[in-house]
Amino acid sequence: MIAKLRLFFASWPPETSAAKLERWAREASRDAGGRVTRADTIHLTLAFLGDVPADRVPAASDAARRVRAPAHVLPIEEARYWPHNRIVWVGPREMPAPLADLAAQLRRELQGEGFRLEARAFAAHVTLIRKAREPGALPPLPRIDWPVSEFVLVSSTLAREGSRYDVMQRFALAAPG
Ligand code: 2AM
Repeated sequence: MIAKLRLFFASWPPETSAAKLERWAREASRDAGGRVTRADTIHLTLAFLGDVPADRVPAASDAARRVRAPAHVLPIEEARYWPHNRIVWVGPREMPAPLADLAAQLRRELQGEGFRLEARAFAAHVTLIRKAREPGALPPLPRIDWPVSEFVLVSSTLAREGSRYDVMQRFALAAPG
């Protein structure tokens, strides 16, 4: 039997930005409670593949290599609470066009390789607190530098202390212009 891997594609922030976001989330959790995402696991999911046989990894990377989207910057402009899954997240106020383009191309290519993705529309969000309660007010966000100049294929292992993520492959985006 072929082992399965839990896979997703994501954009990972620079370490200093992740540290700032974790610090912000710790402050927010004084009101919201919940479990704060560790700095080294903070990411933006582009496409979630779920449990996939390990021998399908080459098909996933073939799909990713066909993506032609320009490098851009992810604006971290707002922090929100979603009651349906009880997360506090940050992200852009409006979907940046190059990010929508990147996610759409990646999803299309993955579907072309036979991967089944959720029908749910792509929502750009960075989860910073899970199992949160609705906060009264969230602290002001720091300035965050998050260049999207590459994206990564990640395998996730569920552990009691939260998920462990291993970056398996990196895919560079072309410089804009
Ligand atoms: P989340 O932050 O909203 O939980 C790894 O699990 C990443 O894939 C998380 O960022 C998670 O988003 C995202 N994801 C998207 N769809 C998922 C699904 N059906 N099950 C688990 N994680 C999913």
